[in-house]
Amino acid sequence: MKGTTFQRALGKGQQFLIDYKRPKLVNAILRNHIAYRWGRLTPVPVGYVSFAPTLRCNSRCIMCNIWGEDNVRLRVKELSYNQWLKVFSESKVLREVPPELPRNGVTGIGISGGEPFLYQDLVPLVQGLLELPHVRLVTIATNGQLTDQVVRGTEAILSRMASQKRLCIRFSLDGPEEIHDKIRGVPNAFQRTWATLQALAQLRQDHSQLEILTAAVVQPRNIDYISKFSHLLASQGVQFEWCVLQVAPFFRNENQDYGYNGYTPEQIQELICLCDLNKVYGMRQWLANPQKRPIHCFAGFASVYINYDGTVHPCQTMATNPERVMGNVVDQSFDAIWKSPQARVVRERVRKCTHSSCWSGCELAHTFIQWDMLQKLARILTLGRLDYYKIWGLKER
Ligand SMILES: C[S@@+](CC[C@H](N)C(=O)[O-])C[C@H]1O[C@@H](n2cnc3c(N)ncnc32)[C@H](O)[C@@H]1O
Ligand code: SF4
Ligand code: SF4
Repeated sequence: MKGTTFQRALGKGQQFLIDYKRPKLVNAILRNHIAYRWGRLTPVPVGYVSFAPTLRCNSRCIMCNIWGEDNVRLRVKELSYNQWLKVFSESKVLREVPPELPRNGVTGIGISGGEPFLYQDLVPLVQGLLELPHVRLVTIATNGQLTDQVVRGTEAILSRMASQKRLCIRFSLDGPEEIHDKIRGVPNAFQRTWATLQALAQLRQDHSQLEILTAAVVQPRNIDYISKFSHLLASQGVQFEWCVLQVAPFFRNENQDYGYNGYTPEQIQELICLCDLNKVYGMRQWLANPQKRPIHCFAGFASVYINYDGTVHPCQTMATNPERVMGNVVDQSFDAIWKSPQARVVRERVRKCTHSSCWSGCELAHTFIQWDMLQKLARILTLGRLDYYKIWGLKER
């Protein structure tokens, strides 16, 4: 039953109220639009707050060359877990970040890397974060290859976790065994990650605070397998996410031939289908003109990334670019950095950013969290006649 236009708008209105019932979230999204448009008000990084305790890595991925860095050099500059906890316990700005998002229902603090489980004090770090009253969810992205460390670490974190808190372990799985191993560049990578995942699935039976996700980086090498693979995982009760391969300084893959020109015409159609299904708007436009970003970016307004050495950046993508450094939490408090003139200068650079291949999960989160609310409002106020994404040409008419 389709119902009248009015009933449909009413239904959408109810859904809107359910999605955006948290006044803090609505307030933060509006603040970010005002900050973006007029440079007024302090933005709130609602889209994502993520940091990398280490950039060291034990994998050899084809699309990410973080592993090529000199581990000794990296380790010297890593912050201690007490320094990280100080950042998150002292910051009033980070306390403003609502714990959940309407789009995927997941935000909280994201721990990335490198391989986070190589960071010696990951357990006390996550335990300390989850003890902070304003932190409800911590997500750790891992390649899952260090089975012992991941299982023992997760057990230790869960053993001290309050029942209302959540821990999400997000495993990278780029496709079926053979494909995954090729992409990750190490033998038996899939088997190890799968064993780790199964061990955590066992743990979850006694710990409802534990969530398990898998995520793939969609690229020419695996796109033909993604749909089938996601169904296979779903049939085993495993949740699956994906993002599109990004060519970016953060992943150290700029000199390689990746990206849009590696897809066959059939694969491009598949990519578009995947994006449409997941409400990732703008892919068609990007494929038609890959040099142009199809949608305004809210990095540094609705997101923040803190690198292993304490430097604060609007996004991961540009975390190696000295022009995108807002400050360093070793020298200044996070709040002082976030509100500083330097942060404003960097945000201005974001507004003019010409980097166009930002399709990774976090980049999409901070972009669409901002636009989704306008889209929903436009739909309700015009009884479904106006579609914000269509106006900007991001959705098929
Ligand atoms: C940099 S990794 C750090 C965490 C961990 N080492 C892992 O692989 O899950 C964070 C996420 O970025 C993804 N990633 C790696 N290379 C990428 C690329 N070129 N474009 C987009 N995402 C990428 C990884 O698959 C992973 O999901
Ligand atoms: S994607 Fe993750 S596992 Fe692979 S090299 Fe990059 S940081 Fe390491
Ligand atoms: S478009 Fe946004 S996310 Fe991408 S590099 Fe520029 S500022 Fe970062």
